[in-house]
Amino acid sequence: MRVSCPMSTRALLAVALFLSVAGQASAQPEMSASPAANERMKWFADAKLGIFIHWGIYAVNGIDESWSFYNELISYDDYMKQLGGFNAASYDPDAWVRLIKGSGARYAVLTSKHHDGVALWDTKLSRLNAVDTTPAQRDLVKPFVKELRRAGLKVGLYYSLLDWSHPDYPNHTKTIKRYTDDPERWERFMQFNLGQMTELQKEFRPDLWWFDGDWEQSAEKWRAPEIRQRILDRNPSAIINSRLAGYGDYGTPEQGLPSRRPAEKYWELCMTINDSWGYQGNDRNYKSPSQVVRIFAECIGMGGNLLLDIGPKADGTIPAEQVEVLRELGRWTSKHSQAIYGTVAGLPEGFFAGPSTLSADSTMLYLFFPGNGGGELMLGGVKNHINKAFIVGNGTNLEVKEYLRPYWSSHAGVYFIKVPEEALDKTMTVIGISLEGKLITE
Ligand code: GLC
Repeated sequence: MRVSCPMSTRALLAVALFLSVAGQASAQPEMSASPAANERMKWFADAKLGIFIHWGIYAVNGIDESWSFYNELISYDDYMKQLGGFNAASYDPDAWVRLIKGSGARYAVLTSKHHDGVALWDTKLSRLNAVDTTPAQRDLVKPFVKELRRAGLKVGLYYSLLDWSHPDYPNHTKTIKRYTDDPERWERFMQFNLGQMTELQKEFRPDLWWFDGDWEQSAEKWRAPEIRQRILDRNPSAIINSRLAGYGDYGTPEQGLPSRRPAEKYWELCMTINDSWGYQGNDRNYKSPSQVVRIFAECIGMGGNLLLDIGPKADGTIPAEQVEVLRELGRWTSKHSQAIYGTVAGLPEGFFAGPSTLSADSTMLYLFFPGNGGGELMLGGVKNHINKAFIVGNGTNLEVKEYLRPYWSSHAGVYFIKVPEEALDKTMTVIGISLEGKLITE
């Protein structure tokens, strides 16, 4: 096409720019932004708490999930001997879901297959599954998904893209590679992987796909855009985590609490209760219930979710320490539900010494603090008049004083809010502040 005048050059440039931006948008999915994405992400953003479950044969010996043979701490054959001890004898999916729901979680994510390739569902594409090669002899995903749905919780399935057991997958352990470049074998592996995903989709229609293991191959090799498209074609409301080589919907910081509000609009911290994902009897380094609650409050204050992991034993029982944390979370989340679910990230840094959340309509502010908050909370940077302050889940009205706000000043004042000892929560107290109008900060 010939460009005849400056005006059409500009027009062309604009079209070219639009096309390249549009091209990017379709190649690289929205990690946030568009109204359609916001609609799809809504339940997730409102849910705040999810429970992650790492359950697999690694619970038999109580060793690192998959990594123990990959890192050659144990031979592959010895690792696989655990298949013979994975009996799920006391597995009670109904009790699991009651515990999970009781914690205040709104979704759960179960490892349908970890990097070791052992599927917990009745896959027809490999014998390496709970039905065919373990004494559990049954599909372990199915009854759990059924109970989750019955309880009104969202269903998340973890699926490892890489499979260190599969004969056509290039990597086996950190030193043993089956091949480096063999398109035919890779293609066979991809057909297997896509086939397993199709089984999961047909059988369970997950609300959330939690991929993992993407780091070993490129997006192109995984055919990440195609995987994403296949999922959304079959279930347009499905959500996909970030570990699909950049083709997911939300960030998944792992074992690291962000110290600042992350740039991504949607994110979820995944965290173990002790230091292990799966059950490891030797790992006694448990976080206390109140530490978990405090970390959870930090997450929601920065607009994120917490995906808290539990690791059931090989017989399906959940260790007592983990049950205790979930129970305390449940007490705390149900008492403070109005400050948690459906809220958005709270005040910018420096306004209040602790996490905070804001109601979706921006007229209620919630301040979280452990202990007695110094006896009096201090809040700066908020320009609104405060209608009322009270203790959430308790109802006690609080005395609020405002200073540093002379009549001629347009600056926000400083609020002091008295906190009566007898109304404190033993773990973390939350104060609700009804603002006059929508929050206006300095
Ligand atoms: C890591 C590990 C894995 C664990 C996962 C949970 O990617 O590979 O073992 O399942 O984190 O986020």
